[in-house]
Amino acid sequence: MAGLSDKRLLFLTGKGGVGKSTVAIALGIAAARRGLRCCVAELTGQDRAAVAFGHRDGSSGARELRLAQDLWTISIEPQHALEEYLSQKAGPFGDVLAGSRTFHGFVQATPGMRELLTLGKAWELAQPQRRTAGARPYDLVIVDAPATGHGLAALSTPRTFAEIAKVGPIASQGRTLDAFFTDPDAAAVVAVALAEEMPVNETLRLRRELREQLGIELAATVVNALLPDRLGPRQGATVAQAEQAAAKASPLVTAALRAARSEHVRAAAQRAQVARLAEGLGSAPLELPYLFTPAVDVAGLELLSERLEELL
Ligand SMILES: Nc1ncnc2c1ncn2[C@@H]1O[C@H](COP(=O)(O)OP(=O)(O)OP(=O)(O)O)[C@@H](O)[C@H]1O
Ligand SMILES: [Mg+2]
Repeated sequence: MAGLSDKRLLFLTGKGGVGKSTVAIALGIAAARRGLRCCVAELTGQDRAAVAFGHRDGSSGARELRLAQDLWTISIEPQHALEEYLSQKAGPFGDVLAGSRTFHGFVQATPGMRELLTLGKAWELAQPQRRTAGARPYDLVIVDAPATGHGLAALSTPRTFAEIAKVGPIASQGRTLDAFFTDPDAAAVVAVALAEEMPVNETLRLRRELREQLGIELAATVVNALLPDRLGPRQGATVAQAEQAAAKASPLVTAALRAARSEHVRAAAQRAQVARLAEGLGSAPLELPYLFTPAVDVAGLELLSERLEELL
């Protein structure tokens, strides 16, 4: 499963709310610790990495923002990506086009155009020779992508555009992006899941559809927020017995024992889902612990980043 540090770009996707942004930032911290100049690129417009590092307004303003040594972030916005693309391609004429309302209307109305533009910017960030004037290259770009269905759809857009347009700048841009995102030496898709039925199903479906629709193999899977199983099966049974025995004696002890048993049951259910996922994938996913803090802060991200080093 290891060895992702020699890719140029990692595309993280998974069901909504499973921890994609958290894992993307933590993986970025791990890569930077390795001395890789790394950029966490969000496609979701949330600027989570900037906020986690104390940039309170959360706005990187669609520009690359330095968070720490070797660690950068950007929130990719289609509009900004379009303006940048046009001015690179067409100079002053591009600026006129970018400012034109008709052209904006065209971009808004064309299905997949936003995805094409945001992927195009992610691709640009990952180039050893950047197109953006004065921009230094990154060793690794980590894309915090939209939830599974949308992530897969986004990865499919370059090919669709290349096929529909056939010739011209959009077709050639589509072909360039498709070649990059489907090249296993350049880009890798990483799935993030929770140890629950639906996210596990979705991960297995993602793996199948990536393979069938784009010929991409899922490079790694991360299972986030696993509860510790403090009690083994035998201790679990002992606690259940003790709970019955204490039922009449002490409500407080009963409540504590019930809480312990409930956590044990949830942890055991998670283990069963991890086993199901591992069987479906044919390999063990990387496991990350549940963090018992009110919010996932930099210290929590550091802790997750240590586990995630295994992927690099
Ligand atoms: N290992 C963890 N332990 C505890 N809480 C976590 C963990 N990972 C993520 N969280 C919390 O779970 C919530 C969802 O995480 P996150 O925002 O990273 O998910 P996401 O997949 O990016 O969501 P979305 O689909 O909305 O973009 C956040 O409040 C985050 O702080
Ligand atoms: Mg997110």
